[in-house]
Amino acid sequence: MSEAKIPSDAKPAEPHQVPRHVAIIMDGNGRWAAARGLPRVEGHRRGVEALRRTIRAAGEIGIGTITIFSFSAENWSRPAAEVHELMGLLRRFIRNDLAELHKSNVRVRIIGEREALEADIGRLLTEAEELTRGNSGLTLVVAFNYGARQEIARAARRIAEQVASGALKASDVTTETVGRFLDAPDLPDPDLIIRTSGEQRLSNFLLWQSAYSELVFVPTNWPDFDRATLEAAIDEYQQRERRFGGLVAKTGS
Ligand code: FPP
Repeated sequence: MSEAKIPSDAKPAEPHQVPRHVAIIMDGNGRWAAARGLPRVEGHRRGVEALRRTIRAAGEIGIGTITIFSFSAENWSRPAAEVHELMGLLRRFIRNDLAELHKSNVRVRIIGEREALEADIGRLLTEAEELTRGNSGLTLVVAFNYGARQEIARAARRIAEQVASGALKASDVTTETVGRFLDAPDLPDPDLIIRTSGEQRLSNFLLWQSAYSELVFVPTNWPDFDRATLEAAIDEYQQRERRFGGLVAKTGS
């Protein structure tokens, strides 16, 4: 088997099916607020409401995993007051919503660099993962202080350590090895990545995992995102032909 072949247990969803994993770049909070003469933080606050709607809708639609880009490694360059507000929103989201998420059988996972965060935030993230570890419903992956290049560099560092200690041979390092050292190696790659607000780029989000993802860009600003927008993006995904570098796959539909 060539190393580029997709292992059978990680087989992506066929395009006519509901995507197994949807990842979302929640963009446009600031523009949503500016268009209404409101402070940017109000856009982020309304963004949390959109997030709650989306998690509920994802579970109802039957999506297995949803990854949300909540705070990027580059977001530290925003004004201190906005960074502070985003940290506060995460704290409140976990404190207020964790019990409900747990009751709804949601499993919370975190990707990103946790060490650099304030200690209480690190503890909240760990608590959310530990409380929901045994849940079997929707997996909610919160990308927080996340950057894909940083994630790949972390993986490379850990692989180098393994090679240095003799646990791994350099000649045995394959794409599969790199995948195993990423932040959430057991999760399937995203079938569909949605970015809101009309911007059309990945901005350092899931660069490794998005090799064969379908990208859908919607004009809606994140605070206005709802189940109908999610369903429309899934409809668009279902029109796509996923070839994974091969020939057209018969979808059987
Ligand atoms: C992009 O909008 C959004 C973010 C940088 C943060 C996303 C955060 C939330 C949706 C709420 C927080 C949720 C949690 C769980 C912490 P932008 O500010 O870049 O918008 P703009 O491009 O219009 O300025």
